[in-house]
Amino acid sequence: MLTCRICGASVREFVDFGRQPLSDAFRKPDDTSEEYFFRLAVGACESCAMVQLVEEVPRDRMFHADYPYHSSGSALMREHFRRTAQEFLETELTGSDPFIVEIGCNDGVMLSAVHEAGVRHLGVEPSAGVGEVARGRGVEVLTEFFEDSTARAVRDEHGPADVIFSANTICHIPYLESIFLGVDALLKPGGVFVFEDPYWGDIVERRSFDQIYDEHFYFFTATSVRAAARSYGFDLVDVRRLGVHGGEVRYSIARPEARTPTAAVAELLAEEEARGLVTRETLDGFAAGVAGIRDDLVALLRDLKAQGRSVVAYGATAKSATVTNYCGIGPDLAAKICDSTPAKQGRLAPGSRIPVVPSEEFAEPYPDHALLFAWNHAEEIIAKEPAFRDNGGRWILYVPEVHVVE
Ligand code: SAH
Ligand code: TYD
Repeated sequence: MLTCRICGASVREFVDFGRQPLSDAFRKPDDTSEEYFFRLAVGACESCAMVQLVEEVPRDRMFHADYPYHSSGSALMREHFRRTAQEFLETELTGSDPFIVEIGCNDGVMLSAVHEAGVRHLGVEPSAGVGEVARGRGVEVLTEFFEDSTARAVRDEHGPADVIFSANTICHIPYLESIFLGVDALLKPGGVFVFEDPYWGDIVERRSFDQIYDEHFYFFTATSVRAAARSYGFDLVDVRRLGVHGGEVRYSIARPEARTPTAAVAELLAEEEARGLVTRETLDGFAAGVAGIRDDLVALLRDLKAQGRSVVAYGATAKSATVTNYCGIGPDLAAKICDSTPAKQGRLAPGSRIPVVPSEEFAEPYPDHALLFAWNHAEEIIAKEPAFRDNGGRWILYVPEVHVVE
C-alpha cells in the first residue's frame, strides 16, 4: 500500500508516466554512463488530499554543482521576483535590521534586489554552481539543503528571520516535516513563511501534465497545504494566485496566534471543494486527458514528418522530459531543442537524447514547425522570434490540447 508522505494515510495512484530520466540531467554527447531512470507516477492522499509522486528520487541526484536551471533566464521571471522583493521590502522587512531567508535562491534572481536595498538576507541553495552566480551578484549564500538542522545553524549564526521565502522549491522537498521544524526554529514569533509553487488546480484545468517530473514531488492546493501546515503547528493565513509558470499559488504560513487568515483562504478552499480537485472523477479524467494529448501530439508529429515538414523544439525545460519520454519523441520527430541556457547547450536532453542547441540556431534555417516546450514563456518567446512566423513557421502547443498557433 502507498502511504502519504505527510499524514501516513493511504494514497491512490491515478496516473503513471512509466520510466523517466532526471528532468534536468542534460548529458554530454560523449557520456557513456548509464542513465538513471525511475517510475514517474502520481497519487493523491485519501485523507489530507496531498497530491504526490509515488517514488522519490534522491535529492543529490537532482541538485548538485552542475544543476543547469538558471532562474534569471526569463525576463518575465526577473520582473516577477523583482516585484516580490519590493513587496517584502515594503511590507514585512520594515522593522529595525530585518532579516529574510530564501530556500532555493538559485542564481539570486530575488535576493539580488534585497541585497541592493541593503537588507540582511541569506539564500540557502544546495546547487553550488547557481549559488556561485548569486554570490557574484552580492547575495549571501549558504551551500546546503534547507532542513531542520540547517535552519538551527542559520538561527545560531544570524538570529531569527522576519520572512522565510521560497519559490518553486518547497514542492521539490518530500521531507516537509523537517522543513516546518526548521521554519519553527528560524522564524520570529510574528514572522511569515511564504512559498509559491505550481497549483494543482491549474494543472487540472490546463491538463499541464508536464509539470509532473522528478523535481516536483508535491502538487499543492490550499486544502492540502493548510492540512500540512496545521499538522506542524502553523496555519495557512493567505493565498494568492499567480500567473507565472502556467499557474501557481503563493501560500503564506504563520503561527496561528500571530496572524488571522484572510478571506482569500476561505474563498480558495471553497472553490477547491466545489471543483472537486482530488475526487476520483477529476483524477481519472485528468489521466484520460493526458493520454489523449500524447496520442494527438504523436499523431501530429508523425503526420508532419510524413509530409516532409521540418520540426524542432524550443525551450529545453525540465517539463519537456516528461513530454518526450512519455510520448516517445526523439530526434526523429523533433530534430533539436533551441535554448538560451549555456549550461544546457551542446548537451543531449535526458532520455530522448535530442540535441540542445543555442537559440540562435533556431534560424539556421527556420523549421516549418516549432514545438514550444517552454509554453509558460510563450508570449516572451513568440515575441522574440517574429521572423519565424514571418517565414511561414508555426508554433505547436500541447496544453490544454494539441494545437497549431495560426
Ligand atoms: N527559486 C528559484 C529556483 C527554483 S529551482 C525560482 O523560483 O526560479 C529549485 C531550486 O531549489 C534549485 O536551485 C535547487 O538547487 C533548490 N533546492 C532543492 N532542494 C532544496 C532544499 N532542500 N533546500 C534549499 N534549496 C533546495
Ligand atoms: P522553465 O519553463 O522556466 O522551467 P522548467 O525547466 O522548470 O520547466 O524553463 C524555461 C527554459 O526555456 C529554460 O531552459 C530557458 C529557456 N528559454 C529560452 O530558451 N528562451 C527564452 O526566451 C526563455 C524565456 C526561456
